Amino acid sequence: MRFVELIRKKRQGGELTKEELQRLVDAYTRGEVPDYQMSAFLMAVYFQSMTSAELSAWTGAMLHSGEVLDLSTVDGAKVDKHSTGGVGDKVSLILAPLAAAAGLKVPMISGRGLGHTGGTLDKLESIPGFDVNQSVERFLELVDTLGLGLIGQTGEIAPADKKLYALRDVTATVECIPLIASSIMSKKLAEGIDALVLDVKVGSGAFMKSMDRARELAQTMIGIGKAMDRPVRALITDMDQPLGLTIGNSLEVIESIETLRGEGPQDLTDLTVELVLEMLDVAGKVTDREASRNHLVELLHDGTALSVFEKIIEAQGGDASICADPSRLPLAKNTTVLEAWESGHISRIQAESVGIAAMELGAGRRRKEDDIDPGVGLVMEAKRGARVEKGQPLVTIYYNDDKELEKVRQMLREAIVIGEAPEDVPPLILERLS
Ligand code: URA
Repeated sequence: MRFVELIRKKRQGGELTKEELQRLVDAYTRGEVPDYQMSAFLMAVYFQSMTSAELSAWTGAMLHSGEVLDLSTVDGAKVDKHSTGGVGDKVSLILAPLAAAAGLKVPMISGRGLGHTGGTLDKLESIPGFDVNQSVERFLELVDTLGLGLIGQTGEIAPADKKLYALRDVTATVECIPLIASSIMSKKLAEGIDALVLDVKVGSGAFMKSMDRARELAQTMIGIGKAMDRPVRALITDMDQPLGLTIGNSLEVIESIETLRGEGPQDLTDLTVELVLEMLDVAGKVTDREASRNHLVELLHDGTALSVFEKIIEAQGGDASICADPSRLPLAKNTTVLEAWESGHISRIQAESVGIAAMELGAGRRRKEDDIDPGVGLVMEAKRGARVEKGQPLVTIYYNDDKELEKVRQMLREAIVIGEAPEDVPPLILERLS
């Protein structure tokens, strides 16, 4: 097969066959298609998009480019959640134990943070000893016995995506809905799950800045799920301000523990409960939504979900005593407070800038190879809509190195707008799609 012909066909808006796409992905994974040809193909997709038949063939080829987990030995409904990423999004840490406590099996394979968004693996690794690198056998055992496993991407799962994502990153082809949707869905479906719930973020701190783009991404992923016979639900949720109050790895683990105790911020608690409710529903386990929702809240308040979190921390080598005593987590040596420079209402918080400010402190990575500092970050002392008086704390900054401190303070000053009370604070959950 001459790959240049496939590039030309796509460039001219033609439709590639399943076999052509399969051969392209296979050959690229094996190193038989050079990056320059794949780059040209990806750019052609960027401009010409893909038909739904092409998209399911392309995703299927990526999904089968490596190992697909066989969860047939695990009893129960295997359901996962994927978030398209945001600032302060620590939902997975609460959701996985809560869903397991509610009877689901959650084989969760997560990623690391990049740029302004955080990653579940980095948050978990702030727990002393926690090992996100478990063998596939051990992962399946954890899912079977404890109801969840929390690991990182292995080299064997969807290797085509790993190569393609790295190439997209340097060829300006990341922001392309079919390529994003196939990337996410190939990795998630390789977990061997029965169903998937998506949290598609929209707003200043999200990949998708407009509702139309968020809806299109959600519908594209739901379509891929349908083509592969895997039910997929999506919630489109607000990411126009950080989720919860904390940004930074240890700080987010502490907030997750508080939420697992039923003492977390309302937005974080509500979103986590709604996502678990969707996971139960998509698995056919909900007859009365209100009763199920109340049951989930009860599992937070009575300590059941927190005890699942303790068990999984211990099983993955971590120090589970952080659940009773979160001060054992590594925290930065210094704190300083950014105070309100005038009285008024918080009318806007530019979430992406807040995420970048946390990254500048060392909570996130600018490049994949950067190290992160688990102890640094930000605590939002007031959120959108709150009334603040001049001199009142707006953000507490946890830092170890004061090199970037002035820059961070300046970024936060620009990110937070104090003015008139916002006319309408949008609801956290904007749309539910299936
Ligand atoms: N996340 C992914 O996993 N893939 C993309 O292409 C974008 C975000």
